[in-house]
Amino acid sequence: MEKKTMHSCGHGNSPRHLGSSVDVENGIVRREIFTDRRIYDEEQEKIFSRSWLFVGHENQIASPGDYILGRMGEESVIVTRDEKGKIHVLLNNCRHRGMRVCRYDRGNTSFFSCPYHGWTFSNEGKLVKVPKLDSAYHKKLDPSKWGLVEARAHVHRGTIWATWNQDGPSFEEYMGSSLFFFDAFIGMYDGGEGEWEAFGGIIKWKIPCNWKFGAENFSGDYYHNFSHSSADRVSFSPSGQKGRHTYDPVTRAEAPYRLNIAVDKTGHTALGQLFKGDHDYVPIYQEMPIVEEYFRQAFYKRREKLKEKARWFPHHGTIFPNLSYSRVTMSIASWHPSGPNETEVWRIFLVPKDAPTEVKDVMRHYAIRYQGPAGQTEQDDMENWLYAHEGSRGSVASRYPFNYEMGIGYEKRNWPVPWFGPNVQVTEGITEQNQRSYFEHWAKVMDDGPGQGDDEK
Ligand code: FES
Ligand SMILES: [Fe+2]
Repeated sequence: MEKKTMHSCGHGNSPRHLGSSVDVENGIVRREIFTDRRIYDEEQEKIFSRSWLFVGHENQIASPGDYILGRMGEESVIVTRDEKGKIHVLLNNCRHRGMRVCRYDRGNTSFFSCPYHGWTFSNEGKLVKVPKLDSAYHKKLDPSKWGLVEARAHVHRGTIWATWNQDGPSFEEYMGSSLFFFDAFIGMYDGGEGEWEAFGGIIKWKIPCNWKFGAENFSGDYYHNFSHSSADRVSFSPSGQKGRHTYDPVTRAEAPYRLNIAVDKTGHTALGQLFKGDHDYVPIYQEMPIVEEYFRQAFYKRREKLKEKARWFPHHGTIFPNLSYSRVTMSIASWHPSGPNETEVWRIFLVPKDAPTEVKDVMRHYAIRYQGPAGQTEQDDMENWLYAHEGSRGSVASRYPFNYEMGIGYEKRNWPVPWFGPNVQVTEGITEQNQRSYFEHWAKVMDDGPGQGDDEK
């Protein structure tokens, strides 16, 4: 069946669909998908108003009345916990004339009063007070019809997700086989049901590049380790040994598979290591006995609980479209679109709530060194992305597509362990499999609308 034309632009006069910007078989992606205003506007409609999007962590709104602001695409949302403990995700947009009803990043309240004309909404989103309802509206306005627009919300192991697609797939269907890989990230160190604490608020900053640069980088770019070579040359991780990652001493000792995971028909990807067999704890915090003991115990408990599946050690991943996670620092980043040429990054860091202060401090310091405002690796990445973006805009440069052909043809299924699932494509080592899979799904959603996860027929 021929796809319908959704879009036409620039190169020649022939109208075409967006799938032609992404040629996965040959590993070719046109630069316009990062810079074109019309493509960007279509993304807001076709991707951000329909996908499941991460909006916060339950721990950020622990008590009744707590709220934080979140974002869904370009739009501000209020993530609230009402008096009964239920979570709501509400469009931060007054139904009268569109003013933000909440202008604080976080707080605790039962009501949001619009600063423009005073319409007041409960933290469940109901319109509960309209000034001059009697004298000016003559009681003709029906407040029950003018509450804040509410998204469909879902909590998964403490992470809060929302979508405007009321009839779309469930969160689990949307995640498909990537749920195992996401759960490995969000799972506690001891494999148990403990709770994460989101510390220090949300770090927010702007980068002059398209939102997809961060999403694709975290989806699977081992190749750019070159960028971080200065961090790799020093003792950067809490282990006190040379290397950037906490797990470097472990992987040096064990030589596991380094794997790229792309989940069919979802755009979701993961990176991580699979230990080739059972392995013992490798000490990494020798200079900090309390921290060492905490992670040692957690290691054995996790292995006991997860058995063979404890062999999977997650690094990073991207949940389509704009959520990336990093187990290395226990952080979650959202790449919020702010126009085709600007991304607002929001990142939170997690520490185990019941861990000793020493453990929390080590994690906090490492996260700040690694990904904080004055950290090492984030700055390397931002510089790459902003120049890559600038390099996509020139009228000459934009004629030449990007190359994503690394590793085509080396993808494997049902390997190296069957429990990754049949809908998972795996490549070992350095490859651009995950980026291809991410952009293939991006093009499909832009042309056809969102799918139902990897169970889709
Ligand atoms: S815009 Fe909110 S009350 Fe008028
Ligand atoms: Fe990086």
